[in-house]
Amino acid sequence: MGTAALRRRLGRAVRMAIGRYRALKPDTIRFRGAFRSHAEALQHVRPGKLKGYDNDGVSEISKALMQEVPLWDYPVLYWLKRLAPEIERVIDAGGHIGVKYRAFARYLELDRIDWVVYDLPAQVRAGRAEARPQDKTLSFVERLEDAPPADVLLGSGLLPYLDQPLADLIGRLSRRPRHILLNKVATRDGPSVVTLENFRLAEVPYHIRNAREVPDALDALGYDIVDSWIIESIAHRIDTHPELGAVVSRGYAARLRETG
Ligand SMILES: C[S@@+](CC[C@H](N)C(=O)[O-])C[C@H]1O[C@@H](n2cnc3c(N)ncnc32)[C@H](O)[C@@H]1O
Repeated sequence: MGTAALRRRLGRAVRMAIGRYRALKPDTIRFRGAFRSHAEALQHVRPGKLKGYDNDGVSEISKALMQEVPLWDYPVLYWLKRLAPEIERVIDAGGHIGVKYRAFARYLELDRIDWVVYDLPAQVRAGRAEARPQDKTLSFVERLEDAPPADVLLGSGLLPYLDQPLADLIGRLSRRPRHILLNKVATRDGPSVVTLENFRLAEVPYHIRNAREVPDALDALGYDIVDSWIIESIAHRIDTHPELGAVVSRGYAARLRETG
């Protein structure tokens, strides 16, 4: 074995040892474990922790932060603003309690855009309970199948938590939207893997998809990617499995191909 290969092996062994050591103190780390599926990750949630996002109380976590417009939201805002003249309705999948509706209200004329949040029942319950008088064009559905046809499907921060492939999600819509905007898609170079994110009171399966998965799915669904970006500032690694490499956060704007 050459010196370079030996050095790589040694580096990997050291990273693995550091990761497994961190696993001994799970409360101090954000990402724990590397599992083959959502179901397998759920089986490893620690006793005393809520399992996943669909639990009352989990909607409080990071709620204030999600209602802000951090730097990584600007590509989405740019595309929504640019498409605004042709948008009547947005489906905000994984839209939580309507956090991005609230965050973007300063920048978009939301009075004339019907904004339908699709999320898990616990978030929809919280969202309906917290609706404000000014949220006139905001509504919620628990089943994507119940969402009316829309011009844009927004999936901001959804893909890491979504327990199904993108194609299955899109297949549940009554009509394919002309535009799909995805942000904060967690990706890696190797095979897709699911880890557990530490939400303190809950542990939540977090999908890190192979970097080709979303572009290939969009293409197969009939979409052209018209823009894409990398969010350097939220790159990370799985604390317990640093040897699996960097988790790169990406965004995409895609347009349905014209047919005929
Ligand atoms: C990190 S939050 C994203 C909130 C917001 N869109 C943003 O960008 O800040 C992820 C959201 O995805 C939702 N989610 C997870 N699994 C889902 C599923 N199978 N269907 C719909 N929403 C889901 C969670 O309930 C949560 O509200």
